[in-house]
Amino acid sequence: GLDISKLRAQTGAITVDEGFVNTGSTESAITFLNGEEGILRYRGYAIETLAENCDFVEVCYLLLHGELPDAAQIDAFRTDLRQHSMLHEDMRKFFDGFQHDAHPMAILSSVIHALSTFYADSLDVNNPDHVHRCSMRLLAKAPTIAAYAHKKSIGQPYVYPDNELGYCENFLQMMFSVPAEKYEISKVAAKALNLLLIVHADHEQNCSTSTVRMVGSSDANLFASISAGVAALSGPLHGGANEACVAMLDQIRDDGADVEKYVDMAKDKSNGFRLMGFGHRVYKSFDPRAQIIKQVCHDLIEEGHINDPIFEIAKKLEQVALTDEYFVERKLYPNVDFYSGVIYRALGIPVEMFTVLFAIGRMPGWIAHWQEMRDSPGKRIYRPRQIYTGPTERDFVALKDR
Ligand code: ACO
Repeated sequence: GLDISKLRAQTGAITVDEGFVNTGSTESAITFLNGEEGILRYRGYAIETLAENCDFVEVCYLLLHGELPDAAQIDAFRTDLRQHSMLHEDMRKFFDGFQHDAHPMAILSSVIHALSTFYADSLDVNNPDHVHRCSMRLLAKAPTIAAYAHKKSIGQPYVYPDNELGYCENFLQMMFSVPAEKYEISKVAAKALNLLLIVHADHEQNCSTSTVRMVGSSDANLFASISAGVAALSGPLHGGANEACVAMLDQIRDDGADVEKYVDMAKDKSNGFRLMGFGHRVYKSFDPRAQIIKQVCHDLIEEGHINDPIFEIAKKLEQVALTDEYFVERKLYPNVDFYSGVIYRALGIPVEMFTVLFAIGRMPGWIAHWQEMRDSPGKRIYRPRQIYTGPTERDFVALKDR
């Protein structure tokens, strides 16, 4: 008894586009993406150029300010970041309260939201100085929160940030050093991490970024909005694909490393199996991020950091898939997740932390989008419409008569 045309007439013309496949939610000047040609640019600069010439902190500056910094600007930015890297000592008590096996994405999201309880200035979303300070706090504290979450899970003491170190070096030290042992930071590991963070720094209107913009559109503070972004990223369809890819490579290894068998399985539509790390909704020629970090894999092998048999399996899989008609015809190439999990594992990062690393990398992109949304002259609260398909008006029946 549902008359859709009558309902449409009542609500005006509404377009339904589930998953927002063809609907632009905003104009944006941050990231350009051309999936057909495999192009990704932040603020007009090719991802390949940035990966070759910049470190992650410079890319943060670029995303936030729209321009590359000069020497004085980047020095001031780095100093600013260092000044915000510690967590309030009372926040350590939060970590005591979490279960040892709590997922670190849940910890990251909760602690980021809780930052607003320590920094009341974050509630003043119209004050640019306060917003800037909160942005720096987020960029600086995210690695500290992430490393504390890891230390909590393995029962080791928390390691304070060391402001003598670079961004990635500091993170590695907080993750892996223990007071009783001397810890040497590997240059190759820091470089690999730097590149991984750069290639994840922004990717226009994906699920988590759109979430950050949507939450922020209600004038919710930056910490609340970013915390929601972390929650969106925690879903396996968004941030968890590299975890799934490593699990698949492990499975292939345990099953006799018969790569061809899995390629055939992926081609067979009856079993629902797909090669994890292959294909992308937007990139249909290649994923430029995958090409950049593939080189990192090779560097890590040369330096002896990878002796994981899954890398050999990954290489074989890539070769078979790239020459197989099925994959070529459908334009299914390895995506960024195909290699990132292998690298994270080579760096000693536990699998449940993979998505947390993604979140640290995406932080400048989320902040830049939140700011862009707020600065937009036409800013309004995000409020999509729907087409109602439930019952039409019904007569109420009293409880005793039901
Ligand atoms: N293995 C085998 N076949 C595949 C794969 C795959 N990984 N990916 C797509 N196909 C096939 C589909 O079966 C379909 O075949 P058909 O035309 O014969 O029916 C065709 O290729 C097109 O696939 P779609 O699902 O329509 O492509 P879509 O763009 O919707 O999906 C997606 C992209 C979700 C990434 C998909 O390729 C996939 O599931 N890949 C594996 C999971 C993965 O790696 N996800 C990470 C994405 S990257 C990121 O999120 C950062």
